[in-house]
Amino acid sequence: MNYIVMMPAAGSGQRMGAGFNKLFLMLGNKPILIHTLEVFENDLACVEILLAVKQEEQSEIQAALNQYGITKVTRLVDGGSERQYSVAACIEAYDGDDIVLVHDAARPFIQQAVIKDLVSTAAKYGASIAGVQAKDTMKLAPLGIVEKTVDRETLWIIQTPQAFQIEVLRKASNQAKEDGFLGTDESMLVERLGYPVRIVQSTYDNVKMTTQEDIVFGEILLKRQRESKLKEDEI
Ligand code: CTP
Ligand code: MG
Repeated sequence: MNYIVMMPAAGSGQRMGAGFNKLFLMLGNKPILIHTLEVFENDLACVEILLAVKQEEQSEIQAALNQYGITKVTRLVDGGSERQYSVAACIEAYDGDDIVLVHDAARPFIQQAVIKDLVSTAAKYGASIAGVQAKDTMKLAPLGIVEKTVDRETLWIIQTPQAFQIEVLRKASNQAKEDGFLGTDESMLVERLGYPVRIVQSTYDNVKMTTQEDIVFGEILLKRQRESKLKEDEI
């Protein structure tokens, strides 16, 4: 089933501490941003990508899209001061009715199978989000003193992509704007309207490149990807 992508890329990468937008950092021989875009460039079901960028980075990003042959980005939308505003700008710029996948530009290791599952689940139920189960013992301790141990089977660590029927996402985004509500993901905006949101099992390697350690891990994942591709090609 076809879908479009709204991809926020207008952050500044403070926690990475590179001194510039972390999405320009190289992972292997390509910028992080390009790795993420290539996942969708190579997925036939993805028909269009709306990319939210900082105005002052627009020309540099356009140059990178040309250099690496990314053809599905139809629109560079002006990002906002918060991630949620960057996604809202994409929603305002879109007037189609395809399933929308919101995906952080900083997560280059999302797998096609997860995307497929998210899209079909959102098409059926309205909203779906990628998540993995907590591996460690989880405790509730709002003041640093344990109140209780939470059954980790019931806890999910949430990632992007998050997929939505466009009417659901648009309604949730407009309502958040009207109420001045700022969430940490799109799902929160949808949840507060009472819509059910289904979790789709993702993979632990869909990490967000946030701090320097993530780059080290990213390089290892990339190497593993290359090796398995080489093996496939041999067969
Ligand atoms: N993002 C965005 N607009 C913002 C803030 C973030 O489009 N105002 C994007 C980032 O470019 C990134 C994604 O949202 O692709 C997830 O955000 P995060 O990992 O927090 O990236 P940054 O905000 O750039 O990093 P930091 O929070 O460390 O400054
Ligand atoms: Mg941020």
